[in-house]
Amino acid sequence: MQPYSERRARLIERMGSGVAVIATAPERLRNRDTHYGYRHDSYFYYLTGFTEPEAVLVLVAGDTPRSILFCREKNEEREIWDGWRFGPDAAREKFGFDEAFTCAELDAKLPELIADQPALHYVIGEDPAWDGRMMAALNAVRAQARAGRFAPSGLFDIRQPLDDMRLIKDAHEQSLMRRAADISARAHRRAMRATRPGAMEYEIEAELIHEFRRSGSEAPAYGSIVAGGANACVLHYVSNDAPLRDGDLLLIDAGCELGGYASDVTRAWPVNGRFSTAQRDLYQLVLAAQDAAFAMVRPGAHFIDYHDAAVRVLAQGFVDLKMLAGSVDSVIEQGTYKRFYMHRTGHWLGMDVHDAGEYRARSGGQEWRTLETGMVLTVEPGCYVRPADDVPEAFWNIGIRIEDDVLVTADGCDIYTVNTPKTVADIEAVMAEART
Ligand code: GLY
Ligand code: MN
Ligand code: MN
Repeated sequence: MQPYSERRARLIERMGSGVAVIATAPERLRNRDTHYGYRHDSYFYYLTGFTEPEAVLVLVAGDTPRSILFCREKNEEREIWDGWRFGPDAAREKFGFDEAFTCAELDAKLPELIADQPALHYVIGEDPAWDGRMMAALNAVRAQARAGRFAPSGLFDIRQPLDDMRLIKDAHEQSLMRRAADISARAHRRAMRATRPGAMEYEIEAELIHEFRRSGSEAPAYGSIVAGGANACVLHYVSNDAPLRDGDLLLIDAGCELGGYASDVTRAWPVNGRFSTAQRDLYQLVLAAQDAAFAMVRPGAHFIDYHDAAVRVLAQGFVDLKMLAGSVDSVIEQGTYKRFYMHRTGHWLGMDVHDAGEYRARSGGQEWRTLETGMVLTVEPGCYVRPADDVPEAFWNIGIRIEDDVLVTADGCDIYTVNTPKTVADIEAVMAEART
């Protein structure tokens, strides 16, 4: 339980004083008495490693720092139906909390915990019901004013220090993310091998899920995109229910979650196993953009640098392939490249697929954040061509994105998803092998 207690200690130090209250995610009803699959809250999990619902962490900073868990009580009847629970005593022991109570005791104990403290830190404004509970606790202390108690006068959003901590992945996180990326690489390879004209998009999605689950992943880290032909030009396509057609490309954006950590991988490959000339031209362009982007991922570079590098290569390609008129500089300055490339080249990756962490430096005006060793991000240029009279017809309905997950290292970056086939030759070889 070491990474979690170390993180709690670091957060307490950053808080300096006051009390933090961090709840895990609520269970959500899907219909009647059936719930959506449960997923803990990432902040809570980051600090506890505890995955049961109905749990709250309280951290007390100051001279006598303490971490306190509130969780479900042991309950023989509920455990027969829903499974084993830790209960406060076992949870305290196993997860290294100083104290533990049942969640039913939280509202009564909170005023005591925050009384006479200078500040209350929590996730402000995310859940109105939770905001209400925090205000009720504050008011309960204010009601004791004549007894000489005072309520915290500072109210802070605990996300800011936590986001900064989550942005730099420790050794435990890096090892999980590398494993998650490797499972996703295997899943993409399996999907490539299963692709053939006439298959349904959901059949290929099933191959991904098969590989995720057999490898121990809890679930996809986000809704898998399995998009044949023109569907690949819908950036967040999720229907995955169309047949795959000979001559089309298939774009798959899918990554598993392992131990609470996401991977996020995209590849595009030909349904029939061979790239056409137009498909290859665009594919090589996106690949070149990705290579240019990788070269800009290193400590000291600004977050936006690798996006700018990818945009320059793509803009040059769009002009060379007669998809856009004008000079490369004008295509970039006027933003006309956005017709074919309308998203950014990446984002932070961690427990959440679009992970916590700010992109601009708080100190430093309008400066984009500087990359640091231990950050993990995606590098995902793409190109999406909708039919239009002024665009060569051979490119119509081609959607390509090439997305890898990378760790920023002292001298550049380490590509976690390196085992996902990517060059034209590698993809065609994997697909040909599956057909023999
Ligand atoms: N899969 C979501 C993304 O690539 O950002
Ligand atoms: Mn992504
Ligand atoms: Mn993705």
